[in-house]
Amino acid sequence: MVCPRLLSGIQPTGRMHLGNYFGAVHNWVKLQHEYEAFYFVADLHALTSAYEDGVNIRESTLEVVADLIACGVDPKQAILFVQSDVPEHSELHLIFSMITPLPWLERVPTYKSKKDEIQGKDLNTYGFLGYPVLQAADIMLYRSEIVPVGKDQSYHIELTREIVRRFNALFKTDYFKEPAEKFTLFPQLPGTDGRKMSKSYGNALFMSESDKDIDQKLRTMFTDPARLRRQDKGNPDICPVFALQGIFNPDLLLELSEGCKSASIGCVDCKKRLIPVVQSFIGPIRDKRETLLKDKAVIIDILQDGARKARQVAKETLDAVKTIIKIN
Ligand code: TRP
Repeated sequence: MVCPRLLSGIQPTGRMHLGNYFGAVHNWVKLQHEYEAFYFVADLHALTSAYEDGVNIRESTLEVVADLIACGVDPKQAILFVQSDVPEHSELHLIFSMITPLPWLERVPTYKSKKDEIQGKDLNTYGFLGYPVLQAADIMLYRSEIVPVGKDQSYHIELTREIVRRFNALFKTDYFKEPAEKFTLFPQLPGTDGRKMSKSYGNALFMSESDKDIDQKLRTMFTDPARLRRQDKGNPDICPVFALQGIFNPDLLLELSEGCKSASIGCVDCKKRLIPVVQSFIGPIRDKRETLLKDKAVIIDILQDGARKARQVAKETLDAVKTIIKIN
C-alpha cells in the first residue's frame, strides 16, 4: 500500500515541554502509523537566528531527538533525521531562492515579529529573510502532501504553495503538488502562570522534570484569579489548571467543573487530582530520554540511518528539479 507522504520539522531550541508535546509531537506519534512520515530537526533553521552558537545547536539537536523518541516517535515507523545531514535541503533552498520574489518574504508575519522580538542580534540577514524558502525546500524535497504544524506556521505553508505554483508555471511542469497543512488538536497549552506555555516565559513543564518539580510547579500554578478563598466560587473556563485537567483527566472534567463552580472543591484538591497524573505521564518519558542520552551513539546511529533513507528521496527530487530547470 502506498501511503501519502507527510513531513514535519522541529527546531532544536532546547528541552521539550508539555506545550511542544501536545502542540505537535503527540500528533507526530499518531500520524507515523497513518502516513509515510519524515520527521527532522531543523538545525539550519535554528542557524538563521542563532548563527553564533553552532555548538549548542548540535547539543540541542541530540536532546530533541532523545525527547522525540522518548515521546514515542519510532525510528522504525518514521524517517527521523537532521536537516543538515541531508545537503539537498540547502541545494533546493538555493534553487527556490532564485524564483521567490522578495516582497513575498518581506510580508511574512513571522519575519517581522521575530525580528522585533529578538533584540541584540543582527537579523538583517539574507538567511533570516529566507527562512520560509528553506521551509518550502524541506517540504517539497520529499514531495510531502501533508504538513502537520501549529497555527503559527500557516503562512509558511501558504508561501510554500505559492512557490510551488510559481515553479510549475515558470518551468511549465506539474512536478510539484501543493502541500496541505494539518493543524493539531491542542494548539495552545497554558503554562504555570496562565500564559501560553513557553520556554522563554519560564512557565513550562519539561519532559525532563522530576516528580518533585512537577509537584512544586503545579502546586503553585495560577488558577482563576477571582477565586481567592477556598469558599469563593470559581470559573473553570478561565482557569489554566482546568485546561490541563481537560487533557490529563478528561473523565473527571464534569465533576471538577461542578465542584469549582459551587466551591465544593478547592483549588488545592483540584490540583491534587492533577499532579499524580502528570507525574505518571512525564515519568516514563523522562526515564527513557535519560537512558537515551547516556548513550548518544545509539541516537547518532538512528540519525545516520534516517539521513541515508531521507537522502534517497531527496536526491531523486533534486535530480528531477535540475532536469526541469535545465542544469542537469
Ligand atoms: N518553522 C517550523 C517551526 O518553527 C519548523 C520547520 C522547519 C518546519 N521546516 C519545516 C515545520 C517544514 C514543518 C515543515 O516550528
